[in-house]
Order: sequence, then structure tokens, then C-alpha cells
Amino acid sequence: MKNRKVVLVGDGAVGSTFAYSLIQSVKTVEELVIVDLNKERSQGDAMDLQDVTPLTADIDIHIGDYQDAADAAIVVITAGVPRRPGETRIDLVNKNVKILRSIVEPIVESGFKGIFVVSANPVDILTTLTQKISGFPRERVIGTGTFLDKARLNVILGDHFGFKPSEIDALVLGEHGDTSFVNFDEARVNGRPLKDQVDLTPEVKNQIETEVRQRGGKIIGTKGATFYGVAYGLSTICRAILENNYKMMVISAPLSGQYGIKDLYLGTPAVINSSGIAQVIQTHLSPEEHEKMKRSAEQMQAVIDGVSS
Ligand code: 2OP
Repeated sequence: MKNRKVVLVGDGAVGSTFAYSLIQSVKTVEELVIVDLNKERSQGDAMDLQDVTPLTADIDIHIGDYQDAADAAIVVITAGVPRRPGETRIDLVNKNVKILRSIVEPIVESGFKGIFVVSANPVDILTTLTQKISGFPRERVIGTGTFLDKARLNVILGDHFGFKPSEIDALVLGEHGDTSFVNFDEARVNGRPLKDQVDLTPEVKNQIETEVRQRGGKIIGTKGATFYGVAYGLSTICRAILENNYKMMVISAPLSGQYGIKDLYLGTPAVINSSGIAQVIQTHLSPEEHEKMKRSAEQMQAVIDGVSS
């Protein structure tokens, strides 16, 4: 296995923005292969990206196919039908599961022994199914999950209370979607509990949580897609893998009893290193937050049961 090779499957807005972010921010990547049905366009994208490398690092960027995964360290899956204005992520499930199966099966057949990183939606479901279809150990499959929602929370809390987003340490957990929730109990600003610094009434909490959930749809309603946030999340996860840096981040991770949930990927903190998910962390939840986590899991499980029946 080449431990510096990344294969990107899906060169749409998220995929190509991820590629751009990866080659700038991850100095350790040596080879980036772009796999997309539209070979002509992805060839152009590869050339456009090559033009960045004289200023960053020597990275071999080219188009390819699933066979290229054979000796890759990471396969990033962004391919799928994106959300249109007014659609939920769950609305995409049947189409995207079919696409996912057509990608994961040939990649496994190629002899791929690395780590899958999934961002296609509905991401928690597609990550759970990537693990099931591939039969890979759970720690070698990762979803972007609520990484993006956590970033959105920082922006929204910052705006609301006048903090800088970078001063805030707060998590969004559960589904990357309509049942996500904020872990207000543990939220901190400059190391001190948020609840000791501002008036967190149930109305304020509800308003912030709703804004976090609706932010993606709002962006899609204006420019037709979201890609910078999730693409940066993908390159951050790849960096943690390629640089073996044991970074803790909130992602879609496999639960095996944490929060009383099993056999499902959902947004929770986890530590990432070169083996994939080194540790899944169960954060402290209030009883009300615990209920929200359970509800999120139940809804994800119901959709998965519907897909496989
Ligand atoms: C987002 O939340 C569409 O899941 C994507 O921006």
C-alpha cells in the first residue's frame, strides 16, 4: 500500500473543492487519483489542480478508475445525487445507496486495504452501509457526519453571543441532518462553560439548534449547493490519517454501545490516526440530550431497515 495515495470518487462540487483543499493543506499527499463518470471534465479538473502543485508540493494528480484503489491509503466518496432546494438528505437515500454499492463493491474487489472516508448524503446511513457492503473493520470506515454542523454551530454561537468562532468548543451530535442536536451541557468558550457565561434559555437553545440544522438548506437555496465546509472537513480527516496525528474531531463514527447505541454510525467525537478511527469517544450528555441521541439513532435505523428490505 502507498501510504500517501488518495483516490477521490466523485468530482462534483464537493469532490473538486476537497481536492483543491487537500493539495494545499496536506503536504504529505503524494498521489491523488480522480475517479468520475465524466472523464473529460475530471481530466480538465486534474490539469487545473496540477497547476497548483508547483507552488505547493509535488503531487501526482491524474484521473483513473476503481482499480487505482488497490494500493491507496484512502478512498474518499463524495459521489451521489446532491440535495436540491427543499429536499432533505434522507430524500436521497435510495438513489445514493445504489450509487454507493456500485462504487464500494469494485473498490473492495480491487484489493483496497485502506480507509474509506464518506461524505455523500445521507452521510450517516451511507457510512454505515459502506462498512456493511465492504465488510471492512469498522475503524476503517469514517463519515464526515456532524463535523460541518459543529463548524456551523461555532459561527452561529459566535454571531449570537459575540464570541469569536475559534474561541468556542461545542459539539453537534447525532445525525448530520434533521435530528442533529447541540451538546449545550458541555459547550465551552475560552475553556469556561457556555452556560455560565450566557443565558441559555430553552428558547435560545432551540433557536440555535434550528439555525444549525437549517443552514445547509439555506445555502443550497441561494447558490444551489454547499461545498467549502464539507470539503474542508474531508481534507482535515485525510490529514489526520496521512499524518497519523491522533486528532480528535466530531465525525460519523461507529457506535458499539456508546450512548446505548450499536451497529450504527452517528456524529460523536472520535480520535483519528493512520489506522482510521483510533477511539470513539462518548461525551457527557444531559438526560434530554441523551433522548435526542436515541431518537436520532432510531430514525437512522428505520431508514436503514427500509433500504435493506
Ligand atoms: C450540508 O449540510 C448538503 O449536507 C450538506 O451542507
